[in-house]
Amino acid sequence: MIVQNPNPGWWRRAVFYQIYPRSFADSNGDGIGDLDGVTAHLDYLNDGTPNSLGIDAIWLNPINPSPLDDWGYDISDYCGIHPELGDLAAFDRLIAQAHRRSIRVIVDLVPNHTSNQHPWFVESRASHSNPKRDWYIWIPGTPDRPPSNWQSYFGGDAWKYDPATASWYLHTFLEQQPDLNYRNPEVVEAIHGAVRFWLDRGADGFRIDVIQGLIKDDQLRDNPVRVERDPDIPWYAEGTQDPLYSSDRPEVHEIIRGLRRVTDSYEDRMMVGETWPREQERLADYLRPDELQLGFNFRFLLARYDARRFRAAIELTEKSFGAGAWPTWTLSNHDFPRHISRYSQAGDGDARARVAAVMMLALRGTPFIYYGEEIGMRDAEIPADRIHDPVGRDGCRSPMQWSGARNGGFSASARTWLPCGDFKAVNVARQMSDPHSMLSLYRRLIQLRKSTPALVEGSYRAFDSAPEDCLVFHRDTPAQHIVVALNFTAEPREIDLPAGKILLSTSAARPAGSAKYPLTLAANEAVIVETG
Ligand code: NOJ
Repeated sequence: MIVQNPNPGWWRRAVFYQIYPRSFADSNGDGIGDLDGVTAHLDYLNDGTPNSLGIDAIWLNPINPSPLDDWGYDISDYCGIHPELGDLAAFDRLIAQAHRRSIRVIVDLVPNHTSNQHPWFVESRASHSNPKRDWYIWIPGTPDRPPSNWQSYFGGDAWKYDPATASWYLHTFLEQQPDLNYRNPEVVEAIHGAVRFWLDRGADGFRIDVIQGLIKDDQLRDNPVRVERDPDIPWYAEGTQDPLYSSDRPEVHEIIRGLRRVTDSYEDRMMVGETWPREQERLADYLRPDELQLGFNFRFLLARYDARRFRAAIELTEKSFGAGAWPTWTLSNHDFPRHISRYSQAGDGDARARVAAVMMLALRGTPFIYYGEEIGMRDAEIPADRIHDPVGRDGCRSPMQWSGARNGGFSASARTWLPCGDFKAVNVARQMSDPHSMLSLYRRLIQLRKSTPALVEGSYRAFDSAPEDCLVFHRDTPAQHIVVALNFTAEPREIDLPAGKILLSTSAARPAGSAKYPLTLAANEAVIVETG
């Protein structure tokens, strides 16, 4: 039976917080973060008072059993918990404690591929006649000729030859991550089973990995070489090919509709996709009423610190989304250097990250905060002998910096799984009582969203007469008029705003309340003004 949704769209009002579970808090002293560690810090995230961060929902990176070739994105059991992170009872505790605080929890679903150690693949690989043979993409052949020119996003061919059955299998990522075959209805049903498993246990939804890649061209045609490159997108995200035949195929939308039917058979659940459409204008195709509720916007995440870049990403979204689709804004995640590290130049990384925080939390759409960004955590230095990730993403996955104590208060162990960043300088304890800290800015911004309807439901409109190198926009409801003004430059800029009340500024020097108009923004200053 389809349950009618009594509360459409909680995810439209929510502020999400992404947790990389191995790096958030270690409850048992083994140097690895775990689920009980997350549970122990829920009050930090939202205790119902303005002292806490005030987020509404958590996204947990993969928590399933995995040989960790790709740090959890290579799953060997969709319905279990990696023993280093806890067990199902710990998951149940986390859900119960989060829900008590009205925090929703979504989990990572990795449906494109499994680990090569998943029993499905072990069976599939065993023989041509194995009942699971067709669960993966196997092509008989000779070792000299891969079935197509497709490249792995992690480098090299996306095909691996398996001499045991003289066949190639497809792996869009590592060779330890064979792609599942979504043309086989049994695979679709098996993944639906995993979805139901987590929804039955109380998960509020999923972040879905590689969503656009779930189905491939049935003729495995060669991809064209990429001719145009977006200078903002790193090579390892974009790849050397235009994935015309290996990704973003029209048939993927039926797979997504199937996932939507399953999640909609539960009350109030949602899905956010890791969405890399071939053309950014087509992100909205994934957000149709019977597909995903939300999809990440990587043009925005990867934009350089430049008002023109962000304006282009925002306006493309506003133009292409139409009335139904709802935007999502993210500055950092576990796959790219943290934005404060990317933006840092001549010592102004902190000021730039503050401007970006105001932008993300004041735009029309759902913000996703990456753990630690609320204290301005930077990428950690990873010595060569402590590298874990095959493609160099360890720096942005370092342990959460809770205090100036040993291991930044993350773990009592002698050694943490990844080295810690500069926790003496940047930590939660130090910022908690400082009204001008990054943490206080995030708390104030989240509070302000909650008490300012125009920031959540208001329309978005660009402000007409802003300097090119500033980003200025209106957020309006019939009853409330807000202007958000962001100076992306290292010099003061005058903005011709109508007089109003300053609700928030990133500058400690600016007094709250009324100001002189036209308003002069300091270098890298952001303000939110109520103009009526
Ligand atoms: C995207 C995930 O965010 C990334 O961490 C992972 O390596 C790939 N998908 C493959 O699952």
